[in-house]
Amino acid sequence: MKVLVVGGGGREHAICWKLAQSPRVTELYCAPGNAGIAQVATCVNIKATDVEAMVAWAKENAMDFVMVAPDDPLALGMVDAMEAAGIRAFGPRANAAVIEASKAFSKSLMKKYHIPTAKYETFTELDKALAYIRQEGAPIVVKADGLALGKGVVVASTVEEAETAVREMMEDHKFGASGSTVVIEECMVGPEVTVLAFCDGEHLVPMLSSQDHKRAYDGNKGPNTGGMGAFCPSPNYTPEVADRCMKEIFLPTVAALQAEGRPFKGVIYFGLMLTKDGPKVVEYNARFGDPETQPILSMLDTDLLDIFEACVDGTLDKLDIQWKSGAACCIVLASGGYPMAYEKGYPISGLEEAGKSATVFHAGTALGEDGSVVTNGGRVLGVTALGDTLPQAIDNAYAAAKHITWTDMHFRTDIGKV
Ligand code: AMP
Ligand code: GLY
Repeated sequence: MKVLVVGGGGREHAICWKLAQSPRVTELYCAPGNAGIAQVATCVNIKATDVEAMVAWAKENAMDFVMVAPDDPLALGMVDAMEAAGIRAFGPRANAAVIEASKAFSKSLMKKYHIPTAKYETFTELDKALAYIRQEGAPIVVKADGLALGKGVVVASTVEEAETAVREMMEDHKFGASGSTVVIEECMVGPEVTVLAFCDGEHLVPMLSSQDHKRAYDGNKGPNTGGMGAFCPSPNYTPEVADRCMKEIFLPTVAALQAEGRPFKGVIYFGLMLTKDGPKVVEYNARFGDPETQPILSMLDTDLLDIFEACVDGTLDKLDIQWKSGAACCIVLASGGYPMAYEKGYPISGLEEAGKSATVFHAGTALGEDGSVVTNGGRVLGVTALGDTLPQAIDNAYAAAKHITWTDMHFRTDIGKV
């Protein structure tokens, strides 16, 4: 089969790496891809958000299957457009991807179907938002409604901090139109766990649990990032917790979306907090997480194309999905300065050596003029290793990462430990 993956980060490298192992994938393409993805797929120079050009290319080149990985083309309806052109596509349609694209939508869905989450109110007027903050007091959480690259959330420890956040979103339009509606919610406390699940509209199969590290610096300090590392499975996600999540959150979410006429086919990302009152939803995403996907797919034994097709065909209940035992850990190597301003174009050394004992997924890389790999983004690489235990996986990932270097490279030294 000819398969196209849409996207070009570490997550898409992991997806392409896994798909390339499928004997049924005869030709693999990725748009736009990156220098690492180019080792396993043919990169196509089309922007992930260019729905029209992507559909036209997929049609012209007779793709049998398209996998849409990032949030923005999903929200823009790329899967709907592929289907309309007669191409089988993996990922939610726009009307289901809205569980990520609008926090106001997902919060009201949870309220209507009694799915446990933080208490909240939605506001479109600044005065009412400020009054609510003063009434509820701190700590309190302020979120821009729309997609804001994971940066539209402020966990405020004082009323003043919350007020400033709301003003920045609603008055100064720090996140553009994403912030004209804000969600203000109760601050939850407890360990955070991510569970990604395959869905076929009706059935749901959770993957291994995982945890990511969103803050830029050691000790969970510094600004929020897209994720500085991840590991799986999470020791906090016991069989008892898993059972409760399935009954109280996962199955009710799939049923709710189906009941609303928005059947979800693709991957649902459940961001969970294990509070003293039980597991609650922090957020839904409508896609694989990045960097969680890198360790998770490293642990998958089943053919990924078989799973994707079962999701599209509604036959997930007939598939037996197998995972390796042990654990996996991914260390993100980032550009100095990320998530703020950073330089690009630095040559990277040590990739081959690191690749002997780990899988080095490329997130932001390009080929330099001399054909060598250079930095081309904030998150540059995700060094991913397996181990019989989580501490071993962490040690293996750091041991491999030690070989890699470039000017101003930055990474956290405590992935999996805090
Ligand atoms: P989100 O983009 O919704 O995942 O939020 C980013 C991060 O903010 C989450 O991973 C949590 O650490 C934190 N957060 C979001 N909502 C809450 C909440 N209601 N209570 C406590 N922390 C939260
Ligand atoms: N790692 C967080 C996310 O993918 O949203």
